[in-house]
Amino acid sequence: MTLDEKLGQLVQRAGGRSKALNSRLDDAELDRVRAGSVGSYLHVAGAEPLARLQKVAVEESRLGIPLLFAMDVVHGYRTIFPVPLAMAATFAPDAAERAARVAAEEATSAGLHWTFAPMIDIARDARWGRIVEGAGEDPYLGARMAVAQVGGYQGGNVLRPGSLMATAKHFGAYGAAIGGRDYNSADVSERTLQEVYLPPFYAAARAGAGSFMVAFNDIAGVPTTANRELLRGTLRERWGWQGLMVSDWGSIGELINHGVAEDRRAAGVLALDASVDMDMVGGVFADDLKAAIEKDPARLKLLDEAVLRILRAKEQLGLFDRPMAYHDTEREARELLAPDHREAARAIARQSIVLLKNEGKLLPLDAAKLRSVAVLGALATDGMSSLGSWRAQGKAEDVVTVLKGITAALPARVKVVAAAGADPRNQDLSGIPAALKLAKSADVIILMIGEDYDLSGEARSRSTLELPPSQLELARRVFELGKPVVVLLANGRPLAIPELTEKAPAILETWMLGVEAGNAVADVLFGKYSPAGRLPAAFPRTTGAVPFYYSANATGRPADPDLAKDTVRYHDLPITPLFPFGHGLTYSEFRYSDLSQSTQSVNPGERVDISITVENSGGVPSDEVVQLYVRDPVATIARPVLELRGFKRVELGAGQHKRVTFSLTPEQLAFWSPKGQWLIEAGRIDFWIGASAADLRANGSFEITKTHTGSAPAAALPTRVIVSGSN
Ligand code: BGC
Repeated sequence: MTLDEKLGQLVQRAGGRSKALNSRLDDAELDRVRAGSVGSYLHVAGAEPLARLQKVAVEESRLGIPLLFAMDVVHGYRTIFPVPLAMAATFAPDAAERAARVAAEEATSAGLHWTFAPMIDIARDARWGRIVEGAGEDPYLGARMAVAQVGGYQGGNVLRPGSLMATAKHFGAYGAAIGGRDYNSADVSERTLQEVYLPPFYAAARAGAGSFMVAFNDIAGVPTTANRELLRGTLRERWGWQGLMVSDWGSIGELINHGVAEDRRAAGVLALDASVDMDMVGGVFADDLKAAIEKDPARLKLLDEAVLRILRAKEQLGLFDRPMAYHDTEREARELLAPDHREAARAIARQSIVLLKNEGKLLPLDAAKLRSVAVLGALATDGMSSLGSWRAQGKAEDVVTVLKGITAALPARVKVVAAAGADPRNQDLSGIPAALKLAKSADVIILMIGEDYDLSGEARSRSTLELPPSQLELARRVFELGKPVVVLLANGRPLAIPELTEKAPAILETWMLGVEAGNAVADVLFGKYSPAGRLPAAFPRTTGAVPFYYSANATGRPADPDLAKDTVRYHDLPITPLFPFGHGLTYSEFRYSDLSQSTQSVNPGERVDISITVENSGGVPSDEVVQLYVRDPVATIARPVLELRGFKRVELGAGQHKRVTFSLTPEQLAFWSPKGQWLIEAGRIDFWIGASAADLRANGSFEITKTHTGSAPAAALPTRVIVSGSN
């Protein structure tokens, strides 16, 4: 390969603007491919248009190296699934895996090889707009969702037909942006980095994620695009991961703005040195690296390594042997929105719904007794907002809106009336009186309010977690009617909704549920399915309470619920969140009993099995999410008051009980020691099993017998769960 051909492999160009895919693939672009100046395209799609491009690469360029086609296929390609935060609320990694698999089947049929997903950034400040793209606040849940998605996209073997190379992004601590302002610096301690932000990445690396993407931010002053220690040291050397590292959009050139590179050439050298292999769109590797390498030929070795990693990814995807395998237009027509894909989208959307409140068992609604229903709120007919952030090829017209779903689920004799009332996008309240008039005679009002799709996602950070003002006003006026009201909350982040929570008898958290949103919501509203999702991030009482997360370190003055002063709390707020991590009601009730453990003490390499019986005592078939939390009460450093270390979504018929066994190892209690290593200290460990981080039903403890060192982020390690004994 010539120097130019090598550099060409490092170049990723945008084949279109985000909304007009392929729009830039003109003759000049084909000439670039012929010249071997491009390694990959993003924002492209379609079996046929990409076949033409690939053909030029393999038949008309000197070396015939195939191109890599990439896109942000984040929660579906054409069949859009719930947004990732909602999928995390399933607490069912197999659901996330299934969604990723369907997305991979569709995207690969449309010529794509590579997705920029999963986004596995932990987010503890809900002002950050990208919290919607990840699994929320907890590293253990985040790691499980990361592994599930990598498995779903790649299908266990990237060579398997229908497999899409996954990208673990954004490495790292992107979610720790100060103040929740997207792209902002992260200033986390080494321990927080290792224990909270990195575990999902470690888990994704172990699961074989083919690529990683760096983050835009700096950590304690070191921009991750130039973070040699993190990228080369931690990821490649210590974790042994050798995949393809891509920059974020233009992030190499942004090293100049960060103030760590004087010019583009210096920026390119820093990124290459840190082991960034591919330059997304920025053009720095294309235009400015050659001179740097000619000046210092020692850099050629770094370039060769990067080229090799890119070629290896292409080889692993089978592109050298079967470059046209992804371009079967018949398969594409068959795959997109296939009936079983829609079915999966509906099932997963139902699993994502969280019942936040259900006073007087208002839900489920009994359709047989209803004569009329009013569906209020602009979001109930807004297909785009059901799709949410990153819609790939999703289309609003594919969406079964909430109004459509409700109407279809009810017998024809039930009168359904609908009105927008007020739209989250503006302050126009003029539609409210007409909506109220319409709703006055209805038996029940279903009020859908919240954020529209454009209020969360990249560059969509908000300074407030309150409802958009028009939405709260609409809700207030609706409650004044004094009728039964079911609130459907739509949002891409935890919201601070104390007034709504006080006034609404029933609230369903419906996030942004994808193409089958309306059917899934109707299934839950009318009792075809008991909601059982759980919050993957706490809902605070007010914006000023964030960052708020359950897994906080023990302090010298633990928050006291009664004492306003001198403990770690706001004197003007209760110490609890509005809804805690792991919270979610169902249409049934569950009894937890007969806690047992296999041993009182564990040595390194051994495990303790913790078992509990969970009985569905509420008379309605429903899932229950059983959660295991741990605490190291006395260690050489202060430890979190609780940490999730296991969960299982269990399906239970009415009256049925099952025994759930969690197998925990001492390695899962390791912490990042002041000496910079994973340490497992001898001593007592307390554990709890419960239905949320604030609803702990049974507890016990065991002893770790010996202090020893670990080798992996504790939260990344999976707890084996066995469910048995049903009757
Ligand atoms: C985002 C990435 C995304 C990329 C390509 C960037 O702005 O941060 O998450 O993969 O664009 O669309």
